Amino acid sequence: MAQIDFDGTPEQAAALKSCIDEHRAEKGALMPVLHEAQNIYGYLPAEVQEVIAEELGIPLAEVYGVATFYSQFSLQPKGKHKISVCLGTACYVKGSDKILEAVEKELHITCGECTADRKFSLDSCRCVGACGLAPVMIVDGEVYGKLTAKEVPAILDKYMKE
Ligand code: FES
Repeated sequence: MAQIDFDGTPEQAAALKSCIDEHRAEKGALMPVLHEAQNIYGYLPAEVQEVIAEELGIPLAEVYGVATFYSQFSLQPKGKHKISVCLGTACYVKGSDKILEAVEKELHITCGECTADRKFSLDSCRCVGACGLAPVMIVDGEVYGKLTAKEVPAILDKYMKE
């Protein structure tokens, strides 16, 4: 797994603190605080989960449990370039698993991770409605269709050079 160092700023810490203060007295404060924390940091680093647990006086395991249960929360940062490989049925039968493998190999990360330089993050998705172009990969909203694993390095190279 790529090691991403936590690099939160004092401004982000202050924003988190004020969000926690705002919701502290509420029942069910955890969800709105996690949402806001993800807006502030772009994801939910372990360090931020610890602060939330301590400030709200709830076990860290509970914070972690909620953060991992809901798909809208991410425990990994997102890269400057967001890659998503479609693993929906039409793409899968046309070999999108091989596309995903090629991206993982090229970037030295696994699906759900972000490269250490935060340039790329990789996720999979279900049908994006472009089955006629299967197998499909999306980079920053741009759709690459009828892909082969061999084409992956050249596509990523274009973004690496940016
Ligand atoms: S299954 Fe991939 S676009 Fe439909």
